Amino acid sequence: VMGPRGGDKIADLAKETKNVAEKGARLTTDYGVKQTTADDWLKVVSNDKTGPMLLEDPFGRERIHRFDHERIPERVVHARGSGAFGKFRVFESAEDVTFAPVLTDTSRETPIFIRFSTVLGSRGSADTVRDVRGFAIKFYTEEGNWDIVGNDIPVFFIQDAIKFPDVIHAGKPEPHNEVPQAQTAHNNFWDFQFNHTEATHMFMWAMSDRGIPRSYRMMQGFGVNTFTMINAQGERSFVKFVFTPELGVHSLVWDEALKLAGQDPDFHRKDLWEAIENGVYPKWKFGIQVIKEADENKFEFDILDATKIWPEDLVPVRYIGEFELNRNPDEFFTQTEQIAFCTSHIVPGIGFSDDPLLQGRNFSYFDTQLSRLGINWQELPINRPVCPVMNFNRDGAMRHTITRGTVNYWPNRFENIKPATHEEGGFVEYAEKVAGIKARARSAKFKEHFSQAQLFWNSMSKIEKNHIINALGFELDHCEDPVVYERMVTRLADIDLGLAQTVAEMVGGEPPKEASRPNHGKKAPGLSQTEFPG
Ligand code: HEM
Repeated sequence: VMGPRGGDKIADLAKETKNVAEKGARLTTDYGVKQTTADDWLKVVSNDKTGPMLLEDPFGRERIHRFDHERIPERVVHARGSGAFGKFRVFESAEDVTFAPVLTDTSRETPIFIRFSTVLGSRGSADTVRDVRGFAIKFYTEEGNWDIVGNDIPVFFIQDAIKFPDVIHAGKPEPHNEVPQAQTAHNNFWDFQFNHTEATHMFMWAMSDRGIPRSYRMMQGFGVNTFTMINAQGERSFVKFVFTPELGVHSLVWDEALKLAGQDPDFHRKDLWEAIENGVYPKWKFGIQVIKEADENKFEFDILDATKIWPEDLVPVRYIGEFELNRNPDEFFTQTEQIAFCTSHIVPGIGFSDDPLLQGRNFSYFDTQLSRLGINWQELPINRPVCPVMNFNRDGAMRHTITRGTVNYWPNRFENIKPATHEEGGFVEYAEKVAGIKARARSAKFKEHFSQAQLFWNSMSKIEKNHIINALGFELDHCEDPVVYERMVTRLADIDLGLAQTVAEMVGGEPPKEASRPNHGKKAPGLSQTEFPG
């Protein structure tokens, strides 16, 4: 049984660490026999000449077997990443919205691991490409693991999880020649964007400076999906998570990003590692945006739509905590690569919403861990909770836990391993009323796709607007198919006529004569990264 670990929990997360610098250690096989050499395969030797190698050599074979199987499948998305350990603390109890101790107990320090990533590139791709960045946090709380699997951009390309394979296929290298690697500058990516009006808001973010962050330490993070929280009185609220870096939000300029991708493809990875090694621990403020259940329908947009932000002038961010990263991993593979996140992993006091993207994600992450790591992935040291794990799940490939006892089912005659009551910390789902017909449908508010793309564009400073224009010019110019870039220019006219006309001149499309819809002219705070006057 995986038990409580007490003491310094962060250090304990690496409990099974072996130290190669340990004095007096001797080289052994995996089955524990000491080896006299690791340099020579067992051979037939005669008159100082070596003959054939013997298949008999168990040491030699073990070395090669182990090497042959070192790779596991890379993540199907977010393959390129790096991460670190740290701690989380709330400085203002959120007890008016949740009873989760991780967000209400100001005396607690919760160990965390964060993995940052790009989305589209493979494991060995460059850090500074234009892309969304993953920002996934595992909180090792005393009530179980809580994962916020977020991004550095607060909205997403699609509204319904069923579209995820399409958006990723279209963004990844093309199927016939696996080109281009880690770039959004290709026909399929932009063909998808045109064919999905719901992606318009997100591609504007990705083409903005947010798509080329200066450092992982200088990125905001967002839970993106709408979650819920329940307080001790049983009242439910809708919640979004926002993390804001102490160092401010900064980006590269495109020329720097391009050069770094060639000169120093590990730029972000090294930046994070070196800052932590030098004791310059990156910190973020942890914020929540809260909408009371009764106010769910009071907004022009659907608050469960992941392609929409909750503008901060309508729903202010309340900063209630902070987290820092203060320890680099001991080993990349067993920690940063084998860590596995699930949006479905929440703790009592926190709940899901009916956001159709989140609901699909809740299925997808556990499922993909089965391919990548196997059914017992939660027994790997980096994925284990710090609280007791006790149940009748058994067996499966690579099972580590040895459980004593004669029963492996519930209920049993000994009444052992009982379900917990609510008072004992048992998870109780909120009794949400659900009624309706079965249908494959989207509500009317989900069908409005341009208003927040305009809001984002209007909120940019002049410099940021120029960067977006240049990014679109660069990306669309790399699409050879005129159907793709010409149609995309017409899409830009759904946002702003000037934007569409300027990009058309850069990529060679017919400049549109009039806007497809009027620009509503609204702006929202917190979207622009610069303080330059607009
Ligand atoms: C991986 C974020 C939508 C499926 C990830 C990771 C992040 C992330 C940060 C990397 C986790 C890590 O560092 O290990 C998001 C966000 C989304 C989103 C913010 C939108 C709100 C989706 C959807 C699906 C999906 C809709 C599928 C229905 C996956 C899968 C992985 C992944 C399969 C690989 C996980 C692994 O192998 O460990 N996502 N994602 N994601 N995501 Fe998402």
